[in-house]
This record gives sequence, structure tokens and C-alpha cells, in this order.
Amino acid sequence: MKAIRLKTEYLVNPVGIDLLNPRLMWNCEGGIRQTAYQIVTDNWDSGRVECGSMQTVYPQPLHSRERVNWKIRLWDENDEPGEWSEAFFEMGLLEESDWQATWITGDYTPNKKERYPVDCFRKVFRVKGPVCHARLYITACGLYEAKLNDEKVGNFCLAPGHTDYRKRVQYQTYDVTNMLHAGENELTVQLADGWYRGSCGAWGITNQYGTETKLICQLEYEDESGLRENVSSDGSWQWANDGPIRFADNKDGEVVEAFRKPLYQGKARESKHNVVPSASNNVVVTEHERFHPVISTAPNGRKLLDFGQNLAGYVFFQVNAHAAQRMLWRFGEMLDTDGNLTLKNIQCVGKKKTTPLQQIEYICGEGLNEYKTTFAVFGFRYAEVETDLELLPENVEAVAVYSDIAETGHFESSNELLNRFVEATKWSTKSNSLDIPTDCPTRERHGWTGDAQIFFETASYLFDYAAFSQKYLRDIFDWQKRNGLLPQIAPYGGVDFYMWTMNGSVGWSDIGILLPYRFWKKYGDRRILESYYDRMKKYAEFMIRRISRDGVVRKGQSFGEWAEPTDVMPNDWKDAVLPHPEVSTAYTAYVLQCLAEISEELHHPEDAAKYNAISAGCKAAYQKKFGKELDTDRQSQLVRPLAFNLLTKKQKAFAEKRLVEALDHYGWRLGTGFLSTPLILDVLSQIDMDAAYRLLENEEMPGWLYMPKVGATTIWESWEGTEAQGGIASLNHYSKGAVVEWLFKTMCGIRVDGENHFILAPHPGGTFTCARALYQSIYGEVSSAWERQEDRTIYRFTVPAGCAAKLILPDGRIETIRAGAYVYTEETR
Ligand code: BGC
Repeated sequence: MKAIRLKTEYLVNPVGIDLLNPRLMWNCEGGIRQTAYQIVTDNWDSGRVECGSMQTVYPQPLHSRERVNWKIRLWDENDEPGEWSEAFFEMGLLEESDWQATWITGDYTPNKKERYPVDCFRKVFRVKGPVCHARLYITACGLYEAKLNDEKVGNFCLAPGHTDYRKRVQYQTYDVTNMLHAGENELTVQLADGWYRGSCGAWGITNQYGTETKLICQLEYEDESGLRENVSSDGSWQWANDGPIRFADNKDGEVVEAFRKPLYQGKARESKHNVVPSASNNVVVTEHERFHPVISTAPNGRKLLDFGQNLAGYVFFQVNAHAAQRMLWRFGEMLDTDGNLTLKNIQCVGKKKTTPLQQIEYICGEGLNEYKTTFAVFGFRYAEVETDLELLPENVEAVAVYSDIAETGHFESSNELLNRFVEATKWSTKSNSLDIPTDCPTRERHGWTGDAQIFFETASYLFDYAAFSQKYLRDIFDWQKRNGLLPQIAPYGGVDFYMWTMNGSVGWSDIGILLPYRFWKKYGDRRILESYYDRMKKYAEFMIRRISRDGVVRKGQSFGEWAEPTDVMPNDWKDAVLPHPEVSTAYTAYVLQCLAEISEELHHPEDAAKYNAISAGCKAAYQKKFGKELDTDRQSQLVRPLAFNLLTKKQKAFAEKRLVEALDHYGWRLGTGFLSTPLILDVLSQIDMDAAYRLLENEEMPGWLYMPKVGATTIWESWEGTEAQGGIASLNHYSKGAVVEWLFKTMCGIRVDGENHFILAPHPGGTFTCARALYQSIYGEVSSAWERQEDRTIYRFTVPAGCAAKLILPDGRIETIRAGAYVYTEETR
């Protein structure tokens, strides 16, 4: 038996983490049962540990810059030791005193109303001899791109990522050993506004986190003679703002004069920032898939590029030109009825500002121009170009840019539209994973907590979402107020004051408890509960204060169900300023119950009893107050209490019957919005599996399969596409893809059920002839497939080494299976 997929705290060979007790994690390959492991590092030998667990805490004290090479071997059920596997991790800078560098900024006094060209900094330095070890520690309030001897350092796009920079600034650590040479070296850094000072949110609010962009960096290297040197940012650095990027904004794009070169005639100014940089302990944001366009001429005479896939990223092009020839690129998700590009579905048009512009104005240099955006990412499938220059498809690429979340889920079935829907959901996840989970990569680009809350289960089947969502959880709790309140958006920002009252919205802010809860179940991670327990309790107290004496939650504004089909509930802003007692009472009951479960897990029985009792009070109030309102065609109002188990027996029976009627009245189309879409199939599969499949297979609007049917390559914000919300509706919002969770956990029936254990309970149905899901879980790769033939259904399962599963077949057979591949047949007549 061999250890594979070695990770340190969910990351593959991380460099520059700052966790003092990181967990070493692995999966098993070969053999059936891991009976023991041994881990050896330079200064620690675990010896043989009799244990089936696939992780352990690194027990030694760690110091700044320490690199730990670890190797591991496993013993299987026959007590045979396997071969060694190796991995490493490296610590970053742990102490404030490790930072010798000084924050630096451009030599000008920023005016809030102005925008500025990208700052260019340079340091030339001499290296005495060949270098054997070098690290660059760097971050910025703004966005940075560093180059050593004209080569980009690392592959992080939009570094240092997105946090509330007033509280947390994350630095990156790059291994630059091979980028330095004996003699003269040049370190340059460009600094742009990014989220820090550039436009954020629907209305493009600027100067959110500060007005003065700045950076700090420390290059440490050692030559072969053992001499250690340090090149740190300080007032001796050269500065210029006459470089090629004249304007850069996350949402609006770039203005580039390619013929320019910074002259570095000025000096950097030393500055301060009262936050000590910390590591992100997260995956990096990098370039991924590339697509060449089909190029045509649009009716408006401009060049129209169709990349065939809606995505978040930027474009790379090569073009031969004379100096000062101009190109204007615009990027968007849709064409208008004439066939021209339009941004109208993603832009907010105000008196002072229309945003996002998603455009690049590019003035060429003489000869070959090669360009890709440095400081902006756009959401687009199409680009429109105004230019006289010839553009060849082979010289243009759309480059998808997103956090390096590895794909862990694969699904396919006999329904091609459903397969495409799953692919579209993957693309919307990719497009909305830019250091934080966002709503859309165009209009708002916010870390909306509600969207992330409802989508976590799906995201964590499809992608390795652990490090990424842990980082986001930090952002959420960085925001938390003294009274326990949690936000609608994290990191802080970008919304006008009239939206502030929406913080605390149920379904959104509840992520503070629901994310750790689900994370614990999916990744078997108790530590996340321990780390956030006090803060979750604070949020619970905030929730509890909103409960009226009769147990109903009337206080607090909330978004309610949000984004139901227009004919079910017209989208009205007034809806958001009103309290939603039904939704609020339901969520309060449900969330407090999850917290009670957490309390029990952490051995706090008094807390558990308290939260259970309050939850029960809300449940009783729900039955009393809203039990009368179940005679409705509004699907969400039936799904929610059924999903959260809030009703009396009698009410439940009524609601179940009524939900099926409601679906019948609506032609078996979906009438749910944000909150209940991920729940409806769970509820229906409890009532009648045929009903669940009937709804899943519906191809009419509103319906999941309607989107791929009309050619969507990502998931839409509104069921009606761009027909809803006054036409301002993104085509790349993942929330309605949250049904994918059901395909994995019910249709194919793969559930993580505690450490090294799964439940495999597939449910064939509808007109499907086959389905297959494969999930690379935290404990290894598990799969479940079924195929219906005329007189039988064949089931195939694989359980990873070191694990076991409880198999529940539709005919009632229950078995415990160990690691291996299994085939079962069920006779059907
Ligand atoms: C966003 C959503 C978000 C919602 C709040 C929208 O404008 O795009 O995804 O959750 O507002 O209701």
C-alpha cells in the first residue's frame, strides 16, 4: 500500500504557509486497509503508528522559513510496509520582525477623484556568486506583478488576491532560486489599484480600502559560499509612472501604450500599513484553459470574436503593427438581436458612471505586439474589436483565470443536456473562484455569502474546495461585528449605504455556521469547528436576539427566497427592505440546530441543549404561524419547511401533497429561487423519486436543462436568462447549478459518512438509462455508476483503499463493502 496525493493542510507542497500545526494528509493506493503509517522528516520520526487515519498533525515546533521534507509509508491489512512517498512544505515569515522591508508607494499624493497610471518600481542589485537558495516575499495594497530580470515571478494572477486589506493582507512566497544570477540583477514591480483602490461592486465604488496603493517585498537569497543577502523595498527604490499601463481597473480594463518603457526617474516614497502581512494558506489564482476564437465581422462592422465558452479571464494576442496603431477591445457575454456584442446585461448604467466597461484600449508599438491583461479579469464569451489590424484566430486566445482548485468531480449520464448542465456548472464555479467565491465575474464580482452558502455542497463535489473555502471563511469572520453580526458580502465592500441593512440576512450571513458545518461533514475536519466555535456562537446570539417572544423571527431585513421566476414572484427591490418572517424563522430554526450538532461534537452539551431548545421554539412557532400558509403554489414555501423538517406530521403530509400539486400546476417547471433550488430535489426524492426525476428532466423554462438546451455554457443568474431583472442579469452565476449536489449524492448516491467511510445509495430513475459519478473525496476516489438494461440494472462501485462503504441498493439490499471494485445486478421485469 502506498500513500498518494500527499498534502499539507489541503495544499500540495505549499511554500510560505504560516500554520503552526499543519496537518499532513494523504490517500491510500493498493491494498484494502491501512493498518499503520510512519512519517519521517529531517528532525522527526513518527515511528510506526497503528492507525487507519489518513492524516496527522505535524507535531514539531516550526519556525520562519523552515522547510520540512516529509516521507511516508503505509502498512496494509497483511502488515506489509509499502514504498515511501515524499512531499514537503515550507513556512513563510511568522514574526513581524521577519519583515525588514518597508512599505513603499509612488511619489505622489493621490486624490480620491482621480485615477492614476500603474506605478513602476525598480531595484538593481549585484549578486556576488551563484545563488543556491532565494525567496521573494511580497504583497501589496493594490495588485502587483513582480519581475526578476524581466521574467514574471510566479504564476499568480491578480496577486495578492482579495481580502479586507484593512485587516488582513496576504503575502506570497516565491522560490526564485533559478531567476537570479551572479552579477547585476533587476527586480521590478508594477503596482495597480485592484480591489484596494479600483472599482468594486455593481456601481464600481472606488477607494474602498484606501487611497494610497503600496507594496512591500523582501528578496532573500543565499549564495554558494553561504553568504545571505536581502533586497528589501525601501526609499532607495526607483519609481516611475510613465510605463505602458496608463490605466488599470479590475472591472473596467486597461489602457496600454505598448511603445512606452518606464524611465524610473523618480524615487519610491516610504509608507506604512498597520497590518502585518500573513500567508493565505490557499491555492493560487492562475491561468487555465485557452480557447481560440472564431472571427467574423459583426453587423456594426467591428471584428467579432466568439470563443465558444463563457468564462472569466482575459485575452492574449499577437499582432504585427506600426507604432501608435490603435485597437479597442470590449468583452461581454451576449450578442444583441442584431448580432452585435452588447454589455447591457452586465452593466450598471448610472449618471456618473457605467461599469463594468470590460475593455482594453491598446496603442501598439512598432513590430510584433504581444499582450495579455495584467491587472484585470473579465467575464466574457465574445469580444468585439475596433481596429484596422489583421487579427488571426491562431494569434488570439481567451485564457481562463481562476483559483487553482483541482477538479474532483466527474458526472455523466444518458442525458446529454444534463451532462452539459454539469459542465456549465463547473464553468460557473471556475469563473467565480477568484481568490474568493463571487456571484458573477462581471457586474458585481462580490463575495456574496448566500451564493457561497447554497453552493458549497456542489462546489465541494466538483472541486477541491477545502483551502479555498477556508480562506473565504476567514474573510467572513474578519468582517464580523462585535454584536456577532455577519455580512451579506465578504470581504467587506462595494455596496452603497442603503444595502448595509442587508447584512445579517438569513440564508446569506448564516454561512458563518453552515459553511463550517458542511465543511466538517465533507472533509471530516473538526478543527474548523474548534477554530470558529466562539465566533459561531456570537453569531447565534445575534440570531437569537431577533427572535420574538412567540418564536417567530420578524426582525432584520433579508433577501428572502430571492430570484424566483418572475411570474412566481416579480423581482422587486422593495422585497429586500422587508423582513421575511417565514424564511427567517425557518433558517433560524435550521441553523441553530446545526450549531447544536456542532456543540455536541465539541462536547459542549449545555450549549447543544440551549440551541436545540431555541431551535425547537422557532419550529413550534413556524408550525403555528406558517403551518396555515401551506396551501400555496409557491414552491419555495413548501420546500423550505419540508427540507428543514419544521412541520407537524399532518402539516408535512399536506405540504408534500401540495408540493406535487404545485409542480403540476406549473407544468413540472421550477418555481424556486436562490435558497430552495438546491433543496427541492432532496425534498421530492423523499416524497416520490419519480417526481424528482420529472422535475430534473424538464427542459422548459424555468428549468435546469433549459439553459444548455438554448446553448448556455455557464449557469444563469435568472431562470429567464437576460429577460428578467430589467435585463440586468448575469449569464454566469453558479447558484442555480447547486442541484449538481443531488446528482452526486442521490442520483449516483455518493455521500461521505465520517472518516474513511461512504454511503453508496444510488437511485436510478426518470428516462435515464445510465449515470456515473466519480468523486475524489478527502479519503480517496470513490465512484458509483448504474446502467439500466431491459430486464436488469447493473451497478458498479469503487471504494478507495483504506476506506469502506455501506451499500444500499434500491431493492433493499444493504451491504458493507471494503476497498475495491464491485458489480451488482438487480433484476427488473
Ligand atoms: C447578486 C446575488 C446576491 C444578491 C443578493 C445580487 O445582485 O448578484 O448573487 O446574492 O444580489 O440578493
